[in-house]
Amino acid sequence: MHFCSCALIALLLAVASADHHLHHNRGSEDHMSCHKLSAPNADFAFALYKRLNARTAAGNNIFFSPLGISTALSVLSTGAHSETHSQLFSSLGYSTLNQTQVNEAYQHLFHVLGQSQENQKLDVGNTIAVHSGFSPLEKFLNDVKQHYSGEVLQINFTNPAEAADKINRHIANKTQDKIKDMVNDVDPETMMMLINYVYFKGKQKPFIREWTHEDDFHVDGSTKAQVDMMMRMDYYHFYEDAVNHASIIVLPYNSNYDDCPS
Ligand SMILES: *[C@@H]1O[C@H](CO)[C@@H](O)[C@H](O)[C@H]1NC(C)=O
Ligand SMILES: *[C@@H]1O[C@H](CO)[C@@H](O)[C@H](O)[C@H]1NC(C)=O
Ligand SMILES: *[C@@H]1O[C@H](CO)[C@@H](O)[C@H](O)[C@H]1NC(C)=O
Repeated sequence: MHFCSCALIALLLAVASADHHLHHNRGSEDHMSCHKLSAPNADFAFALYKRLNARTAAGNNIFFSPLGISTALSVLSTGAHSETHSQLFSSLGYSTLNQTQVNEAYQHLFHVLGQSQENQKLDVGNTIAVHSGFSPLEKFLNDVKQHYSGEVLQINFTNPAEAADKINRHIANKTQDKIKDMVNDVDPETMMMLINYVYFKGKQKPFIREWTHEDDFHVDGSTKAQVDMMMRMDYYHFYEDAVNHASIIVLPYNSNYDDCPS
């Protein structure tokens, strides 16, 4: 059911664009900043989706966070130079931008995402686990802290079990204990590990209980199951992409995001 990941992409982009309506009082320079990323990040998301889809058996689900991957690669690019840097930038679709512009755009994006909404909590950020005794350039660490909602964690990777435990506890802390055993096999030669996390808890608009009824859920082409179907009548932003055989729907949470980007 590839539909799911499309909806996810739409939701992430919707979140990224929603500030448009929330910060009318900000300066126009600042206001534009995170929008620089919208088009390249959307293109990257679909290009990556196509690659993943090509390697996934028919009928299997694909679930990924394109924004998380763009962010992690952008963090990496702040520490990269020359050929490596230009390859990262061209893959991300940032060739017309420079690192300063990208950093500032992400800083703005994290600022927007950090504004808590009523009935929902979104926590996104990055952590760099650095091997104790290894000192990356101070500028790199500072850029990640300043622009990518970043944190630096000292880890002694020589002891893999202890390192994994410390990293897992950190991730559990950032995800309200939802993700507890992310890593188990840490390479003792590791110098740095980049961790990107997203925690989201939102309240959907309520459904009318009386409208719930049993109906067929088509698990695949030949299997169906009777399940309770919730129903709601409303207007939704919906897009059908015939070329990519995809349908995209924006399902807003119970927040200000009703006013979706067009
Ligand atoms: C990045 O691009 C902006 C806008 O074109 C420019 O003002 C700035 O000097 C550039 N920064 C670097 C480090 O090249
Ligand atoms: C890391 O752990 C190893 C093994 O426990 C120890 O020998 C080493 O001194 C530690 N390194 C640092 C920088 O603490
Ligand atoms: C995460 O760590 C912070 C700081 O140590 C602590 O205040 C908070 O309660 C922790 N959260 C969870 C879910 O463990």
